[in-house]
Amino acid sequence: MPDHYQQLIDFDQKHIWHPYTSLNHPTPVFPVESASGVRLKLADGRELIDGMSSWWAAVHGYNHPVLNAAVTEQLTKMSHVMFGGLTHQPAVELAKTLIDISHQDLQHVFFADSGSVSVEVAIKMAIQYWASKGQPQKQRLLTIENAYHGDTFGAMAVCDPDNGMHHLFSGHCRSARLTLYAQTQHCCGYIRTHRARCRRHAFLQPRLFKESP
Ligand SMILES: Cc1ncc(COP(=O)(O)O)c(C=O)c1O
Repeated sequence: MPDHYQQLIDFDQKHIWHPYTSLNHPTPVFPVESASGVRLKLADGRELIDGMSSWWAAVHGYNHPVLNAAVTEQLTKMSHVMFGGLTHQPAVELAKTLIDISHQDLQHVFFADSGSVSVEVAIKMAIQYWASKGQPQKQRLLTIENAYHGDTFGAMAVCDPDNGMHHLFSGHCRSARLTLYAQTQHCCGYIRTHRARCRRHAFLQPRLFKESP
């Protein structure tokens, strides 16, 4: 491996804290030179298949030519613009596509920039929904055992506190709001069985209850 890459590794191990690793005892890292589809080409010439699949891997694979072309074209116009009070063609097109592939009752789009943030947004929307219905006391969230919803605080609050990868933080999350744990992996089954309890506590769209037999 060229010196340059060993320097990358040395600096990385000394100064960069990677997700889900120890700062003091970092796990080894492998410099990636390029990527394509499911394959990663390492600096030392080896090729790996990224078998993590959903975890941080793009759904279309790495280095997809269509995505690359779209990003390149967009960059010639603007990489980013704030979304408060402004809009643009790509946002409208994406919203249209999302509405087209969603249930007909879902006609509105709110953009968030990660999975964790989307969970935060959903929690805030649920709180706002019940507050605007005159029931601000509805402060409990329904989640499922073994759940993982992301790493921000709101998202951690609805993860399984024991095995949702955040057990160190479970005390803080629970103090923020009580979490109602489903006894089953199947949330809808739980809702059917405990309908009254869910109505009392959980943040749920009324449609969900109507649709339960
Ligand atoms: C089910 C689920 N929800 C939320 C997240 C968090 O997404 P992000 O890493 O984009 O914040 C993940 C990430 O793997 C996930 O698998």
